[in-house]
Amino acid sequence: MTYLNGKTILLGVTGGIAVYKSVELLRLLTKAGANVHVVMTKAATEFVTPLTFQTLSCNPVHTELFNLIQEQEIGHISLADRAEIVLIAPATANIIGKIAGGIADDLLTTTIMATKAPVLIAPAMNVNMYQNPIYKENEARLRELGYHFVDAETGSLACGWEGNGRLAKPERIFDRASALLAPSDLKGETILITAGPTREELDPVRYISNHSSGKMGYALAKTARDRGARVILVSGPTCLEPPLGIELINVESACQMRDAVFSMVESCTVIIKAAAVADYRPALRSNEKIKKRGKNLTLELEKNPDILTELGQMKKPPLLIGFAAETNDLQTNATAKLTAKNLDMIVANDINQEGAGFNTSTNIARLLYRNGTVEPLELMSKTRLADIILDRAGALLKDKR
Ligand code: CTP
Repeated sequence: MTYLNGKTILLGVTGGIAVYKSVELLRLLTKAGANVHVVMTKAATEFVTPLTFQTLSCNPVHTELFNLIQEQEIGHISLADRAEIVLIAPATANIIGKIAGGIADDLLTTTIMATKAPVLIAPAMNVNMYQNPIYKENEARLRELGYHFVDAETGSLACGWEGNGRLAKPERIFDRASALLAPSDLKGETILITAGPTREELDPVRYISNHSSGKMGYALAKTARDRGARVILVSGPTCLEPPLGIELINVESACQMRDAVFSMVESCTVIIKAAAVADYRPALRSNEKIKKRGKNLTLELEKNPDILTELGQMKKPPLLIGFAAETNDLQTNATAKLTAKNLDMIVANDINQEGAGFNTSTNIARLLYRNGTVEPLELMSKTRLADIILDRAGALLKDKR
């Protein structure tokens, strides 16, 4: 979920080779429905022309402090007041030093000093500058004062050096900005989310698994974190980058997932089981690679623990939300699982529907509640769905207490 839709954002651009990446950031912001006003320092305009930013933001770009026409239309104080968040990307050592030192000698520094909005700084500079104790002190001072930072990344730098100092990826800056604008309505909650498939090993090279990508569970983890919850993500093997600022427990098999969930259950107020858990595992796991022999091979499988059912049998379970991905009789099957597993809510989806299957970024879900209510939802991104699930979890928690 992005919380940037409809928000007024001030994007400060300072002079560095990474300015071109801030064009990409601007595109992400406008695509998310934000109204972006760009302020460029003089040095920034040497790298990319204001026209590029103006065209993409559909707003005039501000470059000078004492421009009479601009000042009349939208002066620096007005910019500072209107912004709901200020982003500085890329931020040079110079601008960071100036902010830390209380210097306000151009439009950007003046605006930053005058704003009451959160300020998110994405530094980009040479590795030695980034490690310079003067820079470090300035950054630490600003952090202490409540300014937010997206750390620079490691890689090859424009100056020819390898190291830390590359501007964070535009997606990371975007995500942080969105998180800063999220409501913190889940503060105080501990939400455990399971995600991805499980793998049940047959031998050292083979396993039984399924097509789950983990996208739904990861979207839930990110959104819950953004909304202030403590998040424990118990994840089967996926290709996804784990969100920062959460507790990640990596598992492979259903039994490992069960152990991980039950080791944390006491501290949880909500458990959301988005993982596609394998129902069966090989009865015997061979320590050696199974050799090809006869014409047919019969595998004997034994039942895995049903984690959600066990949670539902607890004396005082946390709020329990399950998933049901079905190919047929969606409503009947999902209702049966809701009851049998003693859940507060189940997210049901028909994986045969276009846009609702495994490995997609979208879903068409139906939310079923303990009291028999059914809430059908339209096709939407998994991040939007995550937000709705968490809205409902919040409401159910209120009812429960
Ligand atoms: N689940 C679980 N442990 C299992 C199997 C499923 O915790 N061993 C959870 C899933 O994470 C999901 C819900 O139960 O939230 C429903 O999973 P699903 O596989 O659809 O249901 P099953 O009970 O396994 O029924 P079936 O496979 O027969 O449809």
